[in-house]
Amino acid sequence: MYLKLFDLSDRVAVITGGGRGIGLEIGRALGQAGARLVLADIDSATRDKAAAQLTAEGLEAVALPVDVTDTASVASLADSVMDRFGRVDILVNNAGVSRLNAALDISDEEWRWVMEVNSNAVFWCARAFGRHMLDAGKGAIVNLGSMSGLIINRPQFAAHYMASKAATHHITKALAVEWATRGVRVNAIAPGYIGTEMTMQLKTMPEVYDKNIDMTPMGRFGEPSEIAAAALFLASDASSYCTGSILSADGGYTAW
Ligand SMILES: NC(=O)c1ccc[n+]([C@@H]2O[C@H](COP(=O)([O-])OP(=O)(O)OC[C@H]3O[C@@H](n4cnc5c(N)ncnc54)[C@H](O)[C@@H]3O)[C@@H](O)[C@H]2O)c1
Repeated sequence: MYLKLFDLSDRVAVITGGGRGIGLEIGRALGQAGARLVLADIDSATRDKAAAQLTAEGLEAVALPVDVTDTASVASLADSVMDRFGRVDILVNNAGVSRLNAALDISDEEWRWVMEVNSNAVFWCARAFGRHMLDAGKGAIVNLGSMSGLIINRPQFAAHYMASKAATHHITKALAVEWATRGVRVNAIAPGYIGTEMTMQLKTMPEVYDKNIDMTPMGRFGEPSEIAAAALFLASDASSYCTGSILSADGGYTAW
């Protein structure tokens, strides 16, 4: 009985930033649970390769373009999904960007870009797809927050990234409460350091990387699959009583 709660057969899952890294792995996890996947990404080569890869593994995956910071592009993605499938059951707001920079060196453009992709776009996408979920009276939204929205990383600096992820957590809770009685659950995952292209830069700075490892109780970076498993839980009926949760998956980083 309990394993069935993770079954996503026939459900349609849209994953933003689904072309690589954590998003691609979340696609693999939801697909293996039976979901039909829409890998939506700004990078055409990346998203096409990801869809081809998952299709070759026997999963049902299509690649669609989106710039999550552009509300017209998000609306067009939602229209395409509804035209093609007639439903949307799961939205994973995974697209994200990161820059390491000291506060006084962050330009207006850089601050706005990080906030646009990591926070504003979470709202744009939740609004565009949440509308259809509310009409259907069911749906699950999973947002990629970060431990950086709970604590301040060190020794590296990234005030915009940390602020953007804290906002994502609060958007998650606000929508969760607003939609709680209408069948749509909204939760977030707060990953610690995960080995993807986003964190490659940290590995090129030994003094930063060593400190990051030292501050992580498990003493290692996580794998994208360890975040994908958390996403599967939050996207599925296994988490039917969870809404507004910020699920830490950080090797214990925020536990102390
Ligand atoms: N890697 C980590 O350590 C870590 C830790 C905590 C949280 N996160 C979060 O997890 C998510 C995924 O991170 P990742 O490490 O896989 O990153 P990544 O850089 O490997 O992948 C991000 C994906 O988002 C896409 N993207 C970027 N801007 C976009 C836009 N405007 N519209 C559509 N797609 C866009 C990129 O093309 C890319 O495919 C992000 O939200 C990130 O902040 C990552």
